[in-house]
Amino acid sequence: ACRLVTPPDLSAETILITAGPTREELDPVRYLTNHSSGRMGYELARAARNRGARVVLVSGPTDLPPPAGVSLFRVTTAQQMRDTVLEQVASCSIVIKAAAVADYRPMLRSGEKLKKHEHRLTIELEKNPDILAELGALQNRPFLVGFAAETTDLRTHALAKLQAKNLDMIVANDVSQVGAGFNVATNIVRLIRRDGHEEQLELMSKELLAHIILDRIQESRQRAV
Ligand code: CTP
Ligand code: CA
Repeated sequence: ACRLVTPPDLSAETILITAGPTREELDPVRYLTNHSSGRMGYELARAARNRGARVVLVSGPTDLPPPAGVSLFRVTTAQQMRDTVLEQVASCSIVIKAAAVADYRPMLRSGEKLKKHEHRLTIELEKNPDILAELGALQNRPFLVGFAAETTDLRTHALAKLQAKNLDMIVANDVSQVGAGFNVATNIVRLIRRDGHEEQLELMSKELLAHIILDRIQESRQRAV
């Protein structure tokens, strides 16, 4: 399936989208990260822009060309992503958190390249802020959409995240399935809404999925009015 027309149905909205991984540095030459490519977030940004939205894209490190006409903020670490998101959120009616934020960062970042010494090395990590949970706790929160990347018990884990982070919708992503998740152009997801509505989607391009996510956001916001 594809879309031949994209109506400007989001022209009244400012949508903040986060995309890509974060990168947590250990020393000047090494870092911790994950397999996120940023594709899902960039497709969402492109689709939202095509539908008339003002788009604020907060992106971790990726090789993707940013869509024209979006306000791009490049960040590296989870803490930088948090600061940028919290600065930008006040002007946004919708936030979609497609980024794969590193849950931990090294306790100490060495200014010099670490040298090898012993047979074993232990690296202590500390927890990063949960950006989405902070947004969920805001007084005047925007419509909030999270992603859940899982390899087991997809529905249970996704529902728990929806509730714990006070979201309006979660896009549950089984990253162990072929054709889903990291670094591919397609995805297989289940959309779960705060009102209990659930929808299992077939394997599809991230481009089409981006449009369906935006359709469902608009439908549930219109219902809430
Ligand atoms: N997220 C976030 N800040 C973090 C971690 C996650 O904003 N520090 C967001 C992600 O962008 C995503 C959602 O929370 O939209 C769920 O991320 P996920 O990694 O699936 O869940 P976690 O809550 O981190 O739990 P876990 O990794 O233990 O499954
Ligand atoms: Ca996580």
